[in-house]
Amino acid sequence: MKKPWGGRFEKDTDQMVEQFTESVSFDRRLYHEDIRGSIAHAEMLARCGLVSETGLVAIREGLRDIEREIEAGTFEFQVPLEDVHMNIEAALIRRIGDAGRKLHTARSRNDQVACDLKLWSRGALDGFLALLTDCQRALLEKAEEYRELIVPGFTHLQHAQPVLLAHVLLAYVEMFERDRGRLGDCRARLNVSPLGACALAGTSLPIDPRSAAEELGFDRCFSNSIDAVSDRDFVIEFVGDLCLVALHLSRLAEEWLIWSTPEFDFVDMDEAFCTGSSIMPQKKNADVLELLRGKCGRLYGDLMALLTVFKGLPLAYNRDMQEDKEALFDAVDTVRSSLQVAAELVRTTAFKKENVARACARGHMDATALADYLVGRGVPFREAHEAVGRVVRAAAADGVTLQELSLEQLCSFSEVIAEDVYQVLGTQNCVENYRSHGSSSPSEVERQLNTWKERLAE
Ligand code: ARG
Repeated sequence: MKKPWGGRFEKDTDQMVEQFTESVSFDRRLYHEDIRGSIAHAEMLARCGLVSETGLVAIREGLRDIEREIEAGTFEFQVPLEDVHMNIEAALIRRIGDAGRKLHTARSRNDQVACDLKLWSRGALDGFLALLTDCQRALLEKAEEYRELIVPGFTHLQHAQPVLLAHVLLAYVEMFERDRGRLGDCRARLNVSPLGACALAGTSLPIDPRSAAEELGFDRCFSNSIDAVSDRDFVIEFVGDLCLVALHLSRLAEEWLIWSTPEFDFVDMDEAFCTGSSIMPQKKNADVLELLRGKCGRLYGDLMALLTVFKGLPLAYNRDMQEDKEALFDAVDTVRSSLQVAAELVRTTAFKKENVARACARGHMDATALADYLVGRGVPFREAHEAVGRVVRAAAADGVTLQELSLEQLCSFSEVIAEDVYQVLGTQNCVENYRSHGSSSPSEVERQLNTWKERLAE
């Protein structure tokens, strides 16, 4: 098959080389953006007098026909034509002849692929903003459903202080909001058109890249053609941002996994979201959660691949850059399905209130509240900490909670303790007595819930 670039070659390309260098097997995913970019480019060429009006009509219609064929699955992508760009261009020329031969005027695949990839990334990125919002809504709904449920709050995975489940769930809402912010930042930097940079140097032809940029919804046009064709920061940044989404999902998954162990038994996972064992008939495994946790590894792999490909790469375009796509596609596909699954998983989980309450009674989680009580009565905190430490030791030795100690016993550790100490002991009192900003107090959690309800309202 004759290559679009075949003019200076006498020999055919080695078949092994064709297979090795092709990208059409994966970059065909860019067909929509490639066609959109080509139409905008042709329109710009027409405005600049480089393509006739009739030529433009033929190009536009030809490209739209090709797009329909691709969507119908009848378009035949050919490996000898290397990539999606040359496949579509060759098909256009087959269809409309000479007008099609003008499309690549003042354009190179270098600015073309950068443009396609930016358009594709921008679309994918916008999808993530919506998916993250959906995950946030799922968490918010769960938080509201169990707005009064107190759970053990952990540090070092040891019982620390009692908190509201809603407070815990809203912590993930915050994480996903930062992810949305990062993606928004990425979008703003990404949204600069590279089209019209040509191979690297620009062109001697009278083109108007700014008008094409505007047509394609870019905020502005590149200012340095060399940078425009060699920049893939946006891919790395986008995948980096997705790594953090995956990281957050892995933390949520791990939290849920811990809660789902028989030792904790805090959650009842919907059967539709669990899997069984091929040998142990009794098993109900949370494989979905494990995969959510595990997918994170793929994401870091994708990011590491990208960082490594671009390290030390000289200006401007180098074929190494073709290696950007599979990592990007994999990262996008993986995080997209992860977010979809995670949102449903949150929605279908029920919390086992009695088990949670039983766990709350363990671990003397009201010890800090007792120390604060002493502080309120003028005891310096370090001294209070020491005294409560001794109270806990005594309670633990007797196998009782702090609440179960008699006033007389409690007073033996500090003379400032009085009857009202029972208003601070116990998880319920602890939660009700929190008052600081952003704390697990019912009113502060209520405030957070209301803020998110407003922000996430459809
Ligand atoms: N398939 C190539 C890529 O994805 C397109 C650009 C090729 N440009 C070139 N001059 N060989 O990077």
